[in-house]
Amino acid sequence: MNKITIAIDGFSSTGKSTVAKQLAKHLGYVYVDTGAMYRSVAYYAMQNGLITKEAFNVEALVGQLSKINITFKFNEALGFAEVYLNDVNIEKDIRTLEVSKFVSTVASVSAVRKKLVEQQQKMGANKGVVMDGRDIGTVVFPDAELKLFMVASAETRAKRRYQELTEKGDKVTYEAVLKNVEERDFLDTTRADSPLVKAEDAIEFDNSILTKEEQFQKLLALVETKL
Ligand code: C5P
Repeated sequence: MNKITIAIDGFSSTGKSTVAKQLAKHLGYVYVDTGAMYRSVAYYAMQNGLITKEAFNVEALVGQLSKINITFKFNEALGFAEVYLNDVNIEKDIRTLEVSKFVSTVASVSAVRKKLVEQQQKMGANKGVVMDGRDIGTVVFPDAELKLFMVASAETRAKRRYQELTEKGDKVTYEAVLKNVEERDFLDTTRADSPLVKAEDAIEFDNSILTKEEQFQKLLALVETKL
């Protein structure tokens, strides 16, 4: 069957990764979580003292980019690929509110974006990929056959993220999560390089009131029109 590229962009916690994983599994496609790649670079910067609440040493991070090797390995038990930084599994470490607080600042650095976009383009070069992020339909794969742009209210998204984090045992408040969601929306939409914007040919999809299964079925029907 004809393999296509599916680009899913949108604000944080709009359920992009949930539906991207469902579609990839159903279609036998590769799923690439590009947010995990930006989170990995932010995690590296935090671990190496390059970014703190007080300061961000951009030059040092850019100088060390060649030392940052991000890979994905499929975990059969989990049913999705986990992210590795220099061969260390950091899947859980990158999903914290701490990393979320720094990631959009790190993601605004053009040299970081250039490195990750090149890697993403290689990963999707043979099509048969579902990739989610902020600039997939606009920058990484502007020729993708199907582009989706996911939206939901900031409160709906913060509630989802809060539930995810507390279920994992993270001690966070709803207010702190909402603040982070709003701050990232602002940084992601206003940065100079590859801001989050709906591609002209993307289909906007609001999932505020849909169950995961309803969302999957609706999006699968859209995918099937492109196969
Ligand atoms: O998707 P997720 O919420 O994990 O992404 C974390 C952050 O990484 C986003 O808020 C954004 O700043 C950055 N990002 C990006 N471009 C992408 C994917 C993520 O700038 N393609």
